[in-house]
Amino acid sequence: MRKFIVGNWKMNGTSNDLDEIAAISAVAQLYTLVDSALCVPATLITRAVTAVGAFPIGGQDCHMQRAGAHMGCVSADMLSDAGAVLTIIGHSERRAAQHERDADIRAKAEAAKAAGLQAILCVGETLEEREAGKALDIVLGQVAHSLPEAAAGAWLSVAYEPVWAIGTGRVAEPSDVADMHAAIRAALVARYGPEGEKIRILYGGSMNGDNAAQLLAVPNVDGGLIGGASLTAAKFQPILVAAQ
Ligand code: G3P
Repeated sequence: MRKFIVGNWKMNGTSNDLDEIAAISAVAQLYTLVDSALCVPATLITRAVTAVGAFPIGGQDCHMQRAGAHMGCVSADMLSDAGAVLTIIGHSERRAAQHERDADIRAKAEAAKAAGLQAILCVGETLEEREAGKALDIVLGQVAHSLPEAAAGAWLSVAYEPVWAIGTGRVAEPSDVADMHAAIRAALVARYGPEGEKIRILYGGSMNGDNAAQLLAVPNVDGGLIGGASLTAAKFQPILVAAQ
């Protein structure tokens, strides 16, 4: 399976950063054996698409409904209309700060699919849950309840992002990543049959140029969802090298 390396800019970036976005896309397109994309704030999508040419630009999140009276929200159709081809759903920062539940995330994934977007659906346990020995149960519960029925094929990826590894510089042990990704893979195959083998499972959480090769070599790690190290081409490139 081709690796999928996706940058997640979160709430970073203004028009001042369009040159960096263009630089990231130029570098990413050198690695022709790797699929890559960059998810930017909604305000930048259209200008980013213009800046990068054929490189895939994604949005972040989307509303679970396709249109209506939802002040300040952005629908999947709006992301698509702006030029996005994918979006990230169920990120732990939204599960925590916006109180998103599995049922909301599942509905958002369905909205993304209906709008023709690929979706990256995030799951992951907190430090407290890991220390209590509940990591597997929590993550498999999120997989069971957040993923839509029609999860088959390339439109959906799952990202395992242990909350305690996000933005902390603390990376999960490869053996823990291996156990979790194997468990997620088994759950996907049990639910979707052979299609479950095709769903890419990304790792996210302080992945960078120093640790990417080790993490991407773990069985069932089909790519990475990268926060801080996706903000510049210089930091993103070594991850692409490791994935190639
Ligand atoms: O979605 C990516 C993310 O949460 C990981 O962030 O900064 O730890 O790479 P970071």
